[in-house]
Amino acid sequence: MTQTLEIGINEGERERNRHNALGVVNELHPRFDELRERGDVHRGNMAELFGVASSGPSLLMRRSDSHFTVLGYETADAAFRRHEVFSSRVYEETVMTWGPNLLSMDEPEHRRYRMLAQPAFANKTMQDWESRWLVPILDRLIEGLAHAERADLYMGYCALFPAHTICSSFGIGESDVAPMHDWLLRMLNTSDPEDAARAGRSFAEYMGRVVRERRADPNDDVISLLANSELVDEDGSRHQLTDDEIMGFAGLMLTAGSGTTYRSLGIMLLTLLQRPALLEKVVSDRSLVPQVIEETLRWDPPLTYFSRLATRDTELDGVPMPKGTVVDLSVTAANHDPRRWEDPHEFDPFRPTQPHMGFGSGPHFCIGNQLARMELRVALNRLLDAFPRMQLDPEAPEPFVTGLYFRMPTAVPVILNP
Ligand code: HEM
Repeated sequence: MTQTLEIGINEGERERNRHNALGVVNELHPRFDELRERGDVHRGNMAELFGVASSGPSLLMRRSDSHFTVLGYETADAAFRRHEVFSSRVYEETVMTWGPNLLSMDEPEHRRYRMLAQPAFANKTMQDWESRWLVPILDRLIEGLAHAERADLYMGYCALFPAHTICSSFGIGESDVAPMHDWLLRMLNTSDPEDAARAGRSFAEYMGRVVRERRADPNDDVISLLANSELVDEDGSRHQLTDDEIMGFAGLMLTAGSGTTYRSLGIMLLTLLQRPALLEKVVSDRSLVPQVIEETLRWDPPLTYFSRLATRDTELDGVPMPKGTVVDLSVTAANHDPRRWEDPHEFDPFRPTQPHMGFGSGPHFCIGNQLARMELRVALNRLLDAFPRMQLDPEAPEPFVTGLYFRMPTAVPVILNP
């Protein structure tokens, strides 16, 4: 293995994957269906609804004595959009570790910050990132696999490039991607606050240096864009983003950009490999790839829910909830609401297209959606070009998709050139 093949995932992340792969909860939908028949809004968090010990992601997990989970599409969509009542400040205690950032801001502040970052994810920029950062790393990964008979594509392909792409676009040199990814993961480790603080200092020191360099000598990376942007304040005055504000953007985007897409690619590959007739169609007709991507994001999104905090006494679908209630909006359950999709549990890329909730909804709709879609499309196409006849390895333990909070395949074991 070359050094490149080691980037993008560290031992902590491997451990989280191993833990999630213990079969904690594999099948979510029988329980969701049973509950949804009784109503869209249920008292309790995901762990309580599934009757399992909670070991959810510290990043997104906020606790409250009053806690509800929403399972219906229309009801979840309404809560995502009623941002003045269902606030994103719910994340404040957890994601502030990076500095002030979009995810935990409410309107109108959120909109002012988001507009600064939006140009970094424009269509033209995505084309540039595709040829500059994504294709070269994918080619190197495929080259590394070319002579192997068998491989686990989840750890040996999917997990190894998204961190590289997003870090490169932020001006982080190739040899620094692995330490950067390691710091980002450790910063969110609430079980060892001292280690989290150490990682936070390393992150701040490194990014602080990049910010100083780009303020003095800007180029076309995202840090240069942010370092030289002016934020219009509420009173109409303007200020250059502070170092803290840039760190907040960087921490959020580097974490979101390196921790989601690879899970979706793993789920998509496994789902196709488990359906050889569909895989064959996709290999010979690549115009189907975008439909397969959208169906994957509907069918099994990599994160199952996002939370909000009630800013006043309110109700949702007729269920009263006091100020301070935490509401978990299950995008996975919403994406299988039988009132919106026929046969929702079928993986059917040919179903009529309509928006799903894999990227959320409302003002916080995923800013990286075009990047994620581009990465999924290019990574799937390059793999199918290189190994058009690949099939599931019948000798490997049977793989499956698992996880209550993060969804991922246990593995994607293949014979590459049968
Ligand atoms: C398959 C991959 C991905 C999925 C399923 C996904 C999903 C989501 C969802 C559901 C949200 C909304 C969170 C909320 O409302 O609380 C979100 C927000 C966000 N995502 Fe993604 N994401 C993906 C990839 C990416 C990538 C590659 C980036 C790279 C920058 C990214 C950056 C962000 C950011 C910065 C936000 C916060 C936006 C805001 O608060 O305005 N995501 N994502």
